[in-house]
Amino acid sequence: MTTPITPKQTPAELAVHGGAPTRLTKKPANPVFSQEAKDEVVQLLDRGALSAFYGGAEVRRFETEYARYFGRDYATAANSGTSALHLAFAAVRLPEHSEVLVPANAYVSAVSALIQAELIPVIVDLDPLTWSMSTEDCERKLTERTRMIVPVHMYGQTCPMNDLSAFAREHDLVLIEDCGQSHGAMADGRLTGTFGFAAAFSLCCRKHLAIGEGGIVITDDKTYADTMRSLAHKGKGEEWFDYREMGYSYNLTEIQGVLGRHQLRKLGAELESRATLAAGLRDQLADTGLVFPVVRPGSTHAYFKQNALVPQRLAPYRNEIVKAIRAENVGCDPTHPCLMDIDWLQNQQPSFFRTIPAAARPDYRPETVPNANAMLARQICIEVGPGLDAEDMSYTAAAIRKVMTYYNARYVG
Ligand SMILES: Cc1ncc(COP(=O)(O)O)c(C=O)c1O
Repeated sequence: MTTPITPKQTPAELAVHGGAPTRLTKKPANPVFSQEAKDEVVQLLDRGALSAFYGGAEVRRFETEYARYFGRDYATAANSGTSALHLAFAAVRLPEHSEVLVPANAYVSAVSALIQAELIPVIVDLDPLTWSMSTEDCERKLTERTRMIVPVHMYGQTCPMNDLSAFAREHDLVLIEDCGQSHGAMADGRLTGTFGFAAAFSLCCRKHLAIGEGGIVITDDKTYADTMRSLAHKGKGEEWFDYREMGYSYNLTEIQGVLGRHQLRKLGAELESRATLAAGLRDQLADTGLVFPVVRPGSTHAYFKQNALVPQRLAPYRNEIVKAIRAENVGCDPTHPCLMDIDWLQNQQPSFFRTIPAAARPDYRPETVPNANAMLARQICIEVGPGLDAEDMSYTAAAIRKVMTYYNARYVG
């Protein structure tokens, strides 16, 4: 086993410039499954009932246990977080061309799913203190066509849910949370996913509850849950040839149902591990100039990633910094781009936009979200799981320290 390089021993020359990397090879952040889960998958394969629609019971069991974890009445599984969002948005049955408030730092799936559901995403700026959806900008972007609000808790850092819920109630808006990165995070004293009419989650490979690919929606409304189940299964009703409406094929497999139940049992430990590793990382990097997010009182961060901002003067070098950290063979990414920087969205390319009357077309100019532009240009996202441990974090800290030392010295404030 190789030992971590302490900052003193760290070779000064960056790997990206030809120096020795901090870690010989990168360890992928992959989910870990219990032996019991693996055994149950083998038993399932022996039984051969691989679909909930052909004799399988595992997906339904997973849904029941998942809903119970959140204290909600129903859960509807889907084959990805993106399809879960599409089901969640389509099943609300809002009038076509309704406007939906969504933060500028959202993952792209929230906007693509809204457009697929024939709804107009209206992009809301961020609050510079909480780095998340700004209630004030929601007020500014509200119109008589606004019908829904979709807070997205990016990297596990929660939106101000008390304020956003009050705003939604005041303006009679449907609230659906995108919890794709926030399993287990608390916002204002409550679990994210329990605030609105519904919440959608992603279960893909690096998430807190990782089963490869998958998604799930929770709600307390039976009619809505039934509609999502039907839409996910080709728009069918109870009977095999009861084709009620045009639907999709978004079903989760039984193998994933087994993995989901077992990963749910480990969710508490996964959250604890990520919180401990992230705290250690912040301690080790406290004097590097990186700015870590403020966690609001009564809230927790779920650490899908440890997000941080590079110092303002290093903003133009953010991508270079991330490239240099990655060359040291540790896990780090630039933030997801601001939604306004996605060409197909900014240019309103999907044919859906041509169905919107000119006067109701959304405004996707970057200058409509100035705080998001400034903040996201500085953000980096550091891997803290799944499957990573304290030794991995000592490599990560050493690598980031090495790169930040170089950039801090080169571009003095
Ligand atoms: C916040 C958020 N929502 C939705 C999704 C989409 O999930 P999936 O990749 O499972 O389709 C992701 C994926 O990373 C996400 O981060």
